[in-house]
Amino acid sequence: MIQPPATLGLLGGGQLGRYFVEAAQGMGYPVWVLDPDPASPAGRVAARHLCQAFDDPDALQALAGACAVITTEFENIPRPAVEWLDARACLRPGPRALSIAQDRLEEKAFLGEIGVAVAPWQAVLAGQTPEVRMDAGGPAFPAILKTARLGYDGKGQVRLAQAGELPAAHAELGLVDCVLEAQVELERELSVLVARTADGANEAFPVAENTHHEGILHLTRVPARVGDEPRERATAIARHIAEQLDYQGLLAVEFFLTVAGELLVNEIAPRPHNSGHYTQDACTVSQFEQQVRAVCGLGLAPALLTTPVAMVNLLGDLWPAAAEPDWQGVLAAGRARLHLYGKAEARSGRKMGHINVLGLPGEDDAGAAASTAEALWQGLAEAVDGGVA
Ligand SMILES: Nc1ncnc2c1ncn2[C@@H]1O[C@H](COP(=O)(O)OP(=O)(O)O)[C@@H](O)[C@H]1O
Ligand SMILES: [Mg+2]
Repeated sequence: MIQPPATLGLLGGGQLGRYFVEAAQGMGYPVWVLDPDPASPAGRVAARHLCQAFDDPDALQALAGACAVITTEFENIPRPAVEWLDARACLRPGPRALSIAQDRLEEKAFLGEIGVAVAPWQAVLAGQTPEVRMDAGGPAFPAILKTARLGYDGKGQVRLAQAGELPAAHAELGLVDCVLEAQVELERELSVLVARTADGANEAFPVAENTHHEGILHLTRVPARVGDEPRERATAIARHIAEQLDYQGLLAVEFFLTVAGELLVNEIAPRPHNSGHYTQDACTVSQFEQQVRAVCGLGLAPALLTTPVAMVNLLGDLWPAAAEPDWQGVLAAGRARLHLYGKAEARSGRKMGHINVLGLPGEDDAGAAASTAEALWQGLAEAVDGGVA
């Protein structure tokens, strides 16, 4: 068990990292953050910010020397850096989980091997003439071509109505290794966070229901509007994946529930997740404290919902030119909890903050919380549109 005041290391310094740092430092663990961005949200609150590239040898040496355990809030750490750290320090999650989560080809192959259903897919590799295999299990159309590596928030994806569009789509993505997958008809999108420690204990958070706008998460509501059967199945699949990875830390699993009732895994993330922000205000433990507990080998906290909740994301599009949004409406609503990441520049599509809206005790669904969250978001959006016009 790693006890405070041991120093913890963190690869990546975005908002997920900032909340990890706050949780850990609140428990008495100083955190060192590695992130090349001088304005890194996590770096600014950490005991030490190593403002260097993820593969900088001096920075990696410093982390390995100082930290009792090193974890991540960002999956795209270069593989040599991951392997270097794993050989010299305690890295949780380890290289195999990071490697699988950072490459959609590896991820799909792994999920298939462990018997987890995914959308029909095939590889489209760099340096090969792309051909569509229409055999059993291969993709049907419409389909989505996704780069195997480095995609996020819907970036690195092209939608295809038919097979003939594949060469152009592959060229548009730079002819890199890709996954071609069938676009499935969605009933719901769900996600589950599971924490697991080195001794095999695990604890899953409640199933979240997610709505995306243009490939970016917009709203999460918990409880999800699904029956007990898919809810239990999603939780069991998330635990199974963590088990099969011999996972140490916090793992997020994104699911598609199709209109035909199939539950497919979309992707996994070896870190806290945007769809888990509701845990900050509506659970018996936040995803960030649970990450600290998991990587330090503490007892995992029960991860129970205390109240129905809806989380709405605040993207840079809500920021008026050269100004801050007027937060009055949000701040006046006592059930709305505003979280801002302290990013100086509000670009379109950039995650700047989020609002958790709590339901009333005794409410058994998140309908009222979701309506309030949407209304608050709408108010901010209209203020920007009005300001521009
Ligand atoms: N095969 C698919 N069928 C239907 N919708 C999809 C599919 N793949 C992605 N999407 C939609 O696009 C969103 C983002 O895709 P995802 O693969 O999760 O990439 P990212 O890494 O950007 O989160 C999904 O949450 C979903 O709304
Ligand atoms: Mg996703």
